Amino acid sequence: MGKSLDYSKVENQLTAIRNYIHQFFALDSTGHDFYHMKRVAKLARFIAEHEKADLFVTEVGAWLHDIGDDKLFSCPEEAIENMISFLKEIKIPEETISDILNAIEDISFRGGKTPKTIEGKIIQDADRLDAIGAIGIARTFAYGGAKGQLIYNDIQADDTSIQHFHDKLLLLKDRMNTEFAKKIAQERHEFMESFLSKFYDEW
Ligand code: NI
Repeated sequence: MGKSLDYSKVENQLTAIRNYIHQFFALDSTGHDFYHMKRVAKLARFIAEHEKADLFVTEVGAWLHDIGDDKLFSCPEEAIENMISFLKEIKIPEETISDILNAIEDISFRGGKTPKTIEGKIIQDADRLDAIGAIGIARTFAYGGAKGQLIYNDIQADDTSIQHFHDKLLLLKDRMNTEFAKKIAQERHEFMESFLSKFYDEW
């Protein structure tokens, strides 16, 4: 199992980080709510144990990975600057802060990048796993509703929630970085495929 982490030493920092994230995302209705961050943090930590990655950097990075996303923040740079000040305030060492920032800088699907560090690769996998399967389906329609998109439209499917499956979600199983995530992804992928075929039947 991965690098051991004495949680009693970092418990206060992790609590502060959870509270910090809660204040930004508690009321989100786009599928990027506090519980998205919580699931990604939990899953990332789980994968990190298997991959022998740094557990603290992975878990903290996972909690923070959506801070500064330009879909969610009107001033992304400012959000990231504030986050760095916060991490310094709760006495996370500079070196660890830079490991965390390296891990989360290349996470997004649209950027098309693969993070350089194993911790980043794991967080990207966990974030992508939360975009597929049953949770992924729920989040897709929540996001579409929050952005005023139609569920589906049989004349012009672009910009509908169903189209998002074809543009992104069905591609994710082949973009996982770790073997562990590939296995989970396969199962969630099949569930989405059967959902879509039933959806089209009923439509
Ligand atoms: Ni995310």
